[in-house]
Amino acid sequence: MKTMEDQRTSFEFDKESLALVEKIIARYPPGKQKSALLPLLHMAQAEAGGWLSRETMDYVASLLKLQPVEVYEVATFYTMFNLQPVGNCVIEVCRTGPCWLNGAEEIIAHLEHRLQIKAGETTPDGKFTLKTVECLAACGNAPVMQAGIKYYENLDVEKIDAFLDDCSSKDATTRQNPYK
Ligand code: FES
Repeated sequence: MKTMEDQRTSFEFDKESLALVEKIIARYPPGKQKSALLPLLHMAQAEAGGWLSRETMDYVASLLKLQPVEVYEVATFYTMFNLQPVGNCVIEVCRTGPCWLNGAEEIIAHLEHRLQIKAGETTPDGKFTLKTVECLAACGNAPVMQAGIKYYENLDVEKIDAFLDDCSSKDATTRQNPYK
């Protein structure tokens, strides 16, 4: 398991990922390579230890021939991008109205109790980071949380316990590159 100390601040895609980057950029008209920014940030985050350092964002800017600030303003706007080191498993619990009305508060409290951290924190062993986020667009099945590319819906404390036990029993990570 990678510890938070192992997480690098500098980053470059490997050959395979660079080929994928070229394919993604080619989806857009010439001169509109900025449209590839979100996919590239997701890829970079997944492959750079689950978060985007300034150096990683600068690298993505150089790949897309953008000013670094154009990348910073996007990365700082969306909560799915982590700008600080995170645990191997990032849990994002929706706290917007429909989820709140259906028990998000209890879900968050239970996660905080099980993990012995507060929302926004990472467990000392670097396994879990707990975040609260706005609507995950699955309101019909509230309360909802996301862990990596997976959604967990109609949550209750039993489902949370099963999820945590499953993650703890293996070296679980939410750092999947969604484009591979
Ligand atoms: Fe939670 Fe929409 S309010 S998914």
